[in-house]
Amino acid sequence: MEYINLGRSGLKVSKLCLGTWHLPHLEEKDEYGVYKINVEEVRRIVKRAIDLGINCIDTANRYHGAMAPVDLQHVGTSERILGEVLQGFDRESLVIATKVRGQMAPWPNGEGLSRKHIMWQIRESLKRLRTDYVDLYQMHWPDPSTPIEESMEAMADLVHRGLVNYIGASNFPADAYAYMSQLARELHVPFVSMQELYNWLERDNDAKLETAKRYGLSVLAYSPLAQGFLTGKYLSGVPQSSRATYMPDLPKRYMTPERLEAVKRFHEVAQRLGVKDSQLALAWILKRAEEVGVAIVPIIGATRTEQLEENVEAVSINLKWDVYRELEDIYSALRAKGYRLTSYAFLSKYLLLRYTTPTITGASVSLAANCPSTVSQ
Ligand SMILES: NC(=O)c1ccc[n+]([C@@H]2O[C@H](COP(=O)([O-])OP(=O)(O)OC[C@H]3O[C@@H](n4cnc5c(N)ncnc54)[C@H](OP(=O)(O)O)[C@@H]3O)[C@@H](O)[C@H]2O)c1
Repeated sequence: MEYINLGRSGLKVSKLCLGTWHLPHLEEKDEYGVYKINVEEVRRIVKRAIDLGINCIDTANRYHGAMAPVDLQHVGTSERILGEVLQGFDRESLVIATKVRGQMAPWPNGEGLSRKHIMWQIRESLKRLRTDYVDLYQMHWPDPSTPIEESMEAMADLVHRGLVNYIGASNFPADAYAYMSQLARELHVPFVSMQELYNWLERDNDAKLETAKRYGLSVLAYSPLAQGFLTGKYLSGVPQSSRATYMPDLPKRYMTPERLEAVKRFHEVAQRLGVKDSQLALAWILKRAEEVGVAIVPIIGATRTEQLEENVEAVSINLKWDVYRELEDIYSALRAKGYRLTSYAFLSKYLLLRYTTPTITGASVSLAANCPSTVSQ
């Protein structure tokens, strides 16, 4: 495994991080009709990941493990299970990243990025994760009802109190990252990363790479395999026990004729190279990082150790530039034909904001207007 620095900080993270949004589940359901998590398989995956050199594990206070949409009975499950399976590993060898923002309780301050909610949720996350500190604490997505200065000051206080080492954010617009970087400098805290949806098929966040470069942020690329669709396994339908079997929106989002066509052409390149589609998808991201000069760290999910092992091998594939260009050509040609490779419906529903550009010199940033109050991640 190779390690790179996160943002401009000295923190070293493995070239791939392990995500815990969806965990392997049992066939048995609980009293709410939700799949129970296969904790023993999680234990095996986490152990194997650490054995393979992955030192960075991403979670969120709201992650539930194996269901969608999230409900308040199941939030916190992923952190709790992660806390349990990490017992016995040396905490200091690990980089634990978690997030705050999503709804955790039904009361008015049960969600958001207010000082009150952040201060409450760090205590809860530390308890669930059974640790004294979080390495990277991320604002999961914007909270239009809270001034970003209040959120950043609360995050900075956590750093100054030693509860958090580094801070980052996720799903914010590019200009908000610029403003948060400036605030972080003023508050003397290391703001190091943006966590964004990024894979060969879904490139709306391409524009944010420039911001990342300018402000010295690393990009933690989430859903780097397009939730499994870039593994090729959906080319002939929805396979048994795959994520799409229990997330009915996924086939609608990914199994459109144009996306299947793109994935098929991607698959043909992988076959010709003699690598797995998943490995090509991850190797493409690492090459893209090289091209744009920004550290992009894919956060991979896995429901079986074999998936993890297959995916980790991508780190040793050095994609040749001509193959990289060929993949870019396939992508561009499909775009030119009018294919929409990103599900705009999904993005506008969950993530896109009508956002007022902040005055970088200090005025309050308005994230008001159309911001959604919940996302399922
Ligand atoms: N900040 C945010 O808003 C946000 C949003 C989403 C995710 N995230 C983070 O990013 C992490 C990764 O997201 P993701 O789980 O969507 O990533 P992903 O890597 O795109 O998808 C992972 C899923 O694909 C399938 N898969 C993985 N490797 C495979 C292989 N080799 N062969 C066949 N199938 C394979 C597995 O699902 P099945 O076996 O169940 O099909 C696995 O759970 C999350 O855990 C979370 O930490 C953050």
